Amino acid sequence: MKTIVITGASSGIGKASAKFFAAKGWNVAATMRHPESERELSELPNVKCYELDVTDSATITSAYDTILGDFGKVDALFNNAGYCLFGPLELSDEEQIRNAYDTLIIGLTLVTKKFIPHMRKNRDGVIISTSSVGGLLTLPLTSTYHEAKYAVEGLMEGLSYELYPFNVYCKLVEPGGIQTDFWNRSLVMADGIDESDYGKQAAGYLNQMAQPVSDSRASADDVAAVVYEAVTDGEKKWRYTVACDDFIAFRRSMNDEEWIAHIGQMYSGFGV
Ligand SMILES: NC(=O)c1ccc[n+]([C@@H]2O[C@H](COP(=O)([O-])OP(=O)(O)OC[C@H]3O[C@@H](n4cnc5c(N)ncnc54)[C@H](OP(=O)(O)O)[C@@H]3O)[C@@H](O)[C@H]2O)c1
Repeated sequence: MKTIVITGASSGIGKASAKFFAAKGWNVAATMRHPESERELSELPNVKCYELDVTDSATITSAYDTILGDFGKVDALFNNAGYCLFGPLELSDEEQIRNAYDTLIIGLTLVTKKFIPHMRKNRDGVIISTSSVGGLLTLPLTSTYHEAKYAVEGLMEGLSYELYPFNVYCKLVEPGGIQTDFWNRSLVMADGIDESDYGKQAAGYLNQMAQPVSDSRASADDVAAVVYEAVTDGEKKWRYTVACDDFIAFRRSMNDEEWIAHIGQMYSGFGV
């Protein structure tokens, strides 16, 4: 039986992936910040929950040791934990920025680093990380999120050169808008946006992301199915998009300056 480790498995894409892999007969090490609160996954026979806060190296090490003790071999790692810091950079305080990068970049990097020797020695493994359509194009007021997801893209591409010789595949899943807690519980807001010069732009953006659009979003289950395909297809393909191909094509239909002008105008952000 194969084993996958998933970070951020308490909700959304991580939880859906845990259930999907378990249903396909995999062992799942579902890691999360608060496993004591998890009810659904802990009921599944081939799923075990572990404490792992990607910003806390001690929990990375203890989860790694316990998972290896429980399952012996890890075949796949799904780096999925993440959230978005929303707001203009100048209103995002240092702690907010450091926390976002600790989670999205440093934490993901350290978890990956932890599992590499095991997979390298086995000459077998898949490391897949959740990037985003926001790792390929940018939208307003989420510059630190884009910065982080662009970094994840660079890490996974760069790592491919190191790990392909050892039969360890690095891959990316790039979701568009997905119905999860991402746009509510997991959205961290910079302070004082409404009263600032960015208020109009922010309202336009948040309206755009709100209810009517969310009805047409793909589900976390859709992403989980693609993650499963990526982990099991045995191919060196490394980029798997979900629900964003039209958006990417639209981005590629214009040059950088046209894109920035188009998006700026769309969110009424320029000239306020
Ligand atoms: N939803 C979208 O539209 C969308 C689009 C593109 C990419 N993504 C990416 O998809 C990934 C999953 O997000 P989601 O949409 O499934 O949203 P979600 O339901 O809010 O899930 C986010 C998960 O990340 C976990 N997390 C946050 N900080 C963590 C930390 N320090 N250590 C461990 N876990 C942590 C959360 O755990 P807690 O329960 O402890 O908070 C939660 O399990 C993220 O990387 C996000 O950037 C989402």
